[in-house]
Amino acid sequence: MTDLERDAALLQERFGRPGAVAFEVSPLGGVVAVLTAGDGKAVVALQGAQVLSWVPQHGEPDVLWCSPLSRLGTGKPVRGGIPICWPWFGPHSDAQAGHPAHGFVRAAMWAAEQTDSGGSTASVTLRRALTPAQQQAVGGDVRANLRVALGKDFEIGLTTANSGQSPMILTGALHSYFAVGDIGAVSISGLEGRSYLDQLTGREASQTGTLEITGETDQIYWDTSKDILIRDDRLRRVITVESTGSDSTVVWNPWREKSARLGDMPPDSYRQMVCVETANVGPRNTVTIVPGASHDMTCRIICIKN
Ligand code: BG6
Repeated sequence: MTDLERDAALLQERFGRPGAVAFEVSPLGGVVAVLTAGDGKAVVALQGAQVLSWVPQHGEPDVLWCSPLSRLGTGKPVRGGIPICWPWFGPHSDAQAGHPAHGFVRAAMWAAEQTDSGGSTASVTLRRALTPAQQQAVGGDVRANLRVALGKDFEIGLTTANSGQSPMILTGALHSYFAVGDIGAVSISGLEGRSYLDQLTGREASQTGTLEITGETDQIYWDTSKDILIRDDRLRRVITVESTGSDSTVVWNPWREKSARLGDMPPDSYRQMVCVETANVGPRNTVTIVPGASHDMTCRIICIKN
C-alpha cells in the first residue's frame, strides 16, 4: 500500500459515507473526496480544498475545466476546477516579501473536518489554519473552512474566522474555471453597467452590454451583486453563478500567448475555459473581520441545458 492509499483509507474509515462520499487516490496523484448525489458527481482534492470536477448528470460534460497537464503533489496549484485564493487575492501587498500570488493555500494540504449525506445530497468540509510564519505575513490569525455540497446544484462556501486579537482586512476568491464548448460561442451577462479594472491596461471602464471574450481578458468588476450567466451556444447550456458575501467578480482568460507562457495549459485549451470568479478584491471590495467574528463567501452554480 502506498502512502497515498493509506491516507485515503484512513479518511475513508473516518469520514466515508456509503454511496455519497468516498476518499480515493486520484489519477492526478493525490487524495480526493468523491461526492455522489443522484446522477451527479463532484471531486474535491485535499490539496488546496480544490474542486476538480462537477458533472451534474452522468454522461454530461463537466461544468468545470481542469488542465490535463496538472498534477497534484507537485507543490504547484492545479490549473482548473475551483482554486481557493485565500487569505488574499492576486499579488501580496508587499511585493518584496516573496509570498505567492492568490494566498497560501492553493497548493497546501487541507484537513477533512466533516462529511454529510442525506436524501440526494452529499457534502464535505475541509479546514486550514495558517502556520505561525503565515500569521506573521498577514498580521493575524485567520482560519478557513471550505464546504462543498452536491445536490441538484452545486454549492461551495468559504468561511473565514478571525481567531486573533486584531481586526483583519482580507480579500480572496473562489477562482472558478468554467468549461465552455468554444470561447467564441460564449456570452456573459450580469455585469452590465458595472465598473471594472482592466488589469492588462490598468484602466477603469464600465461594462456595456454582455461580455464576449475575444482576446486576453483580466478584469475585476467592482460591487457586483447580480447573478452571472455564462451562455454557451456550443455546449447549449447556461451556467448561472449565484454568489453571496462577495462584492467583486473577476473574469479571466489568458488567451493564446499567455496560456503558452503559463506552461500548464495545452495549446488552444484557452478556448475551452473561462474563469468567472466569486471574489472580494482590494482596494474597493475588502472584507473586515473583527476578532471572534467570521465571514462567509458562497457560490451556487446551476447548469441548465437549452
Ligand atoms: C486571475 C487574475 O484571477 O488569476 C490574473 O486576475 C491571474 O491576473 C490569474 O493571471 C491566474 O493566476 P495564477 O496564479 O493561477 O496563474
